[in-house]
Amino acid sequence: MAAELTEFTRALARVPGPVTVATTVDDAGRSWGFTATSFSSLSLDPPLVLICLGKTASTHHAFTSAERFLVNVLAAGQSAVAQRFATSGIDRFAAGDMRPCEFGLPGLDSAPVRLACALHDVLDGGDHSILVGRVEALHTAEGTPLVYCDRAFGGLLPAQ
Ligand SMILES: Cc1cc2nc3c(=O)[nH]c(=O)nc-3n(C[C@H](O)[C@H](O)[C@H](O)COP(=O)(O)O)c2cc1C
Repeated sequence: MAAELTEFTRALARVPGPVTVATTVDDAGRSWGFTATSFSSLSLDPPLVLICLGKTASTHHAFTSAERFLVNVLAAGQSAVAQRFATSGIDRFAAGDMRPCEFGLPGLDSAPVRLACALHDVLDGGDHSILVGRVEALHTAEGTPLVYCDRAFGGLLPAQ
């Protein structure tokens, strides 16, 4: 089983993914955020996206009980932000690079895409919860998105 899991995770690591930081604010006004590559579009009508969050994550309660959350798609060159929002036991917002954006949720000015979502549904996904977000506002800007593949950050290359 352990070997199978290693093969499974090694195979999945080979699949490139976008690098996002999801953020929200709880009822007490505390900001929460985590790095996620498990972001995907889901539906056009209604406009839905999904992001998967580990059930043991410190952010799990905040996101599964949130009214709204923001998905910041990171730009190439923002791998330090991704690493910070994946680090346990630190204040991920202390760097001060997030400011109130759509619906007052913390966001990155320099994100090539920001999607402001209402929490539409929370689905069971094994050891993860699938957060389904209904996109209510969005922002796009110039900038090449950051990509994660083979456990390394990179950028997009033109097709050969
Ligand atoms: C590149 C990268 C992608 C990640 N993608 C996800 C993801 O899609 N879902 C998830 O739950 N955690 C993901 N993580 C881990 C979280 O960012 C975070 O480290 C984890 O939730 C543990 O955080 P905690 O200290 O808040 O419990 C990713 C981490 C990295 C570095």
